[in-house]
Amino acid sequence: MKLSLLLALLGAVSAHQLHEGAPEQEVPAEQGKEEPGEPEPPCPTESESFRMTVPGQGGHTCRYVFVNNCQTFWRAQKVCARCYHGHLASIHNYATNQRLSRTAHTRTNRAQVWIGGYTSRWFLHVYPRWVDHSAWNYSNWARGNPWQFWKSCVAMCPVGGQWRSVSCGTRLPFICEY
Ligand SMILES: *[C@@H]1O[C@H](CO)[C@@H](O)[C@H](O)[C@H]1NC(C)=O
Repeated sequence: MKLSLLLALLGAVSAHQLHEGAPEQEVPAEQGKEEPGEPEPPCPTESESFRMTVPGQGGHTCRYVFVNNCQTFWRAQKVCARCYHGHLASIHNYATNQRLSRTAHTRTNRAQVWIGGYTSRWFLHVYPRWVDHSAWNYSNWARGNPWQFWKSCVAMCPVGGQWRSVSCGTRLPFICEY
């Protein structure tokens, strides 16, 4: 196959995945890699979680929980699913990013919190996606992020709201959306 055709095909596939999100089976595979056999973390207590409701566009309400209890990325995602029937938060605009980072600053005690982004690699190409498969149409990467050669998960710095690649096994507080 000609190189240009191959590159065009790769581009088409990754563009397709960017828009369509991950195949459903990929997330459990990634989750399964972490800490097999460790018990499910308990649901956060009232004192370690803070709920926030934000009126969204078109009368749609967005609900978030800030969990000040450190978990790895995929375990945090499981807590969001099991305890709140939601997922780690996806962020689609500047206003939401600012609001979430300001609240994370007052409600969590770490320099970084998990949001629902992670990167996948397709040959030499690293591309970001959200755990809820929504469109990747906004980002606020700090300079030099995301990592280009390793898969990573996305953490937000509560001070300033910038995003950085962090190793997915790091334990951080997290923001669920439900
Ligand atoms: C970005 O994606 C979200 C989720 O699909 C959507 O609600 C929003 O309207 C999109 N924003 C833009 C600017 O396309």
